[in-house]
Amino acid sequence: MPMTAIVLAAGEGTRMKSRHPKVTHKLLDKPLVWWPVNAARQAGADRIVVVVGHGADEVRAIFANDTDVECVEQTERLGTGHAMMCVRDALGDFQGPTVVLYGDTPLMRAETISNLVEHTKAGHYACTVLTMSPSDPTGYGRIKRDENGEVLAIVEHKDCTPEEQASLTECNSGIYCFCGRRLSANIDKIGNDNAQGEYYLTDMVGIYREIGEPVSALLADDDSELLGVNSRVQLAQVTKIMQRRINEGLMASGVTMLDPDQVWVGAEVTVGQDTELLPQTMLWGDTHIGEECVIGPNTRLTDTTVANGASVEETVGMQVTIESDVTVGPRAYLRPGAHLLEGSHVGTHVEIKNSTIGRGSKVPHLSYIGDTTMGEGVNIGAGSITCNYDGVFKHRTSIGDNVFVGSDTMMVAPVSIGDGALVGASSCITRDVPAGALAVERSDQVMIEGYATKRMAMLRDKKASGEKE
Ligand code: UD1
Ligand code: CA
Repeated sequence: MPMTAIVLAAGEGTRMKSRHPKVTHKLLDKPLVWWPVNAARQAGADRIVVVVGHGADEVRAIFANDTDVECVEQTERLGTGHAMMCVRDALGDFQGPTVVLYGDTPLMRAETISNLVEHTKAGHYACTVLTMSPSDPTGYGRIKRDENGEVLAIVEHKDCTPEEQASLTECNSGIYCFCGRRLSANIDKIGNDNAQGEYYLTDMVGIYREIGEPVSALLADDDSELLGVNSRVQLAQVTKIMQRRINEGLMASGVTMLDPDQVWVGAEVTVGQDTELLPQTMLWGDTHIGEECVIGPNTRLTDTTVANGASVEETVGMQVTIESDVTVGPRAYLRPGAHLLEGSHVGTHVEIKNSTIGRGSKVPHLSYIGDTTMGEGVNIGAGSITCNYDGVFKHRTSIGDNVFVGSDTMMVAPVSIGDGALVGASSCITRDVPAGALAVERSDQVMIEGYATKRMAMLRDKKASGEKE
């Protein structure tokens, strides 16, 4: 449903002890503030306004490519109410539901936001506050209700009497849904006459009560969604919860994990049915794994696509395409632009960059293949290297179909090896090899019969007679 979300993210987060603003710290593969923005988007928000302040440019950069997100700067941090006053111009005369989220509260689910919006619309409320009952309510704003259970006001912890601090246990989560029309008409009524001298957004509740606009409070089903991150310890705790949430979702959809505590899957990654993720596997960014694959152990794939039936063991890959039934590793390094076609094999201690490995071709051991186009059915012998860099420029190597390259071959680019050619082991290939040809570049083998035997005998005699070397 059309709605606007405001994500408050101007705070510094001093307890993070960081040079960077709190909300730029990563939870799995995304900055903290990305998560509530994404939840709002999934709940149907078509406009998302992020209030930035501390380290504004770093926060803006996160959303540089998102057309549905705009950042508004709050230059002075005068409170949550003031933050909302800062976005009023950006909102224009938006009439619909306006949800307020926090940039440091990343576990909030889209369904919870949708429920909050539905509830607000159904009751024609000017505002619904999402509330919780934490075991320790210290520090939170408290929900004050009248004798009929209707919400009267939110009173900040510091503005409560000691009796209220003890008796009012229902707390403000800081997440709200407002009616946009009534919010912009009344937000200026917020003042700063309170214990902290701040403009409190929470005052809207009392303000609405006074002018007779209905407000409501909705107790959250799952308090853990409201956990905020103020320190790195809390960041780790929240990461654990999110890791579990994502992994349990994947397992429910048919993915096997030997140990889900040792698998980290990013927010937008997909993994197909009957794929197995082994320990110490990290899948980040725009990574998509097909069905019936085995990934890991010790594997990190970023922005990588893996098709069905592939196996990727002890491998680091980024911006890579791996087609079906490919086998990779153990211990391969796949760099941007590596494209491994169907049924190919990249083995141990092999690095591939910006290269196509053709169907069924094999690069099994100790090789570097860069800036290369390789046909199908090729075998690259152990220790072979494409010498793609002359110190200034990068050059391409082209290898045709069914080429056999012997071990320890240097292919000095630009160079091409034609279909069906054969390259003798230990050759340094600097000129193009025609299709079907044999190329060998190495000096003749010298053979001196009996030399080694004679030499050893001579050395042993020397030692026996007490001579020094
Ligand atoms: C706020 C609520 C409190 C609630 C609690 C839940 C108010 C007055 N109080 O208190 O009732 O129980 O959240 O966590 O709203 N921010 C800005 N600009 C500002 C001030 C804050 O963007 O000028 C952002 C912060 O970066 C943060 C969020 O708003 O993400 C909450 O601010 P914070 O000062 O931590 O509010 P609390 O005191 O925790
Ligand atoms: Ca040689």
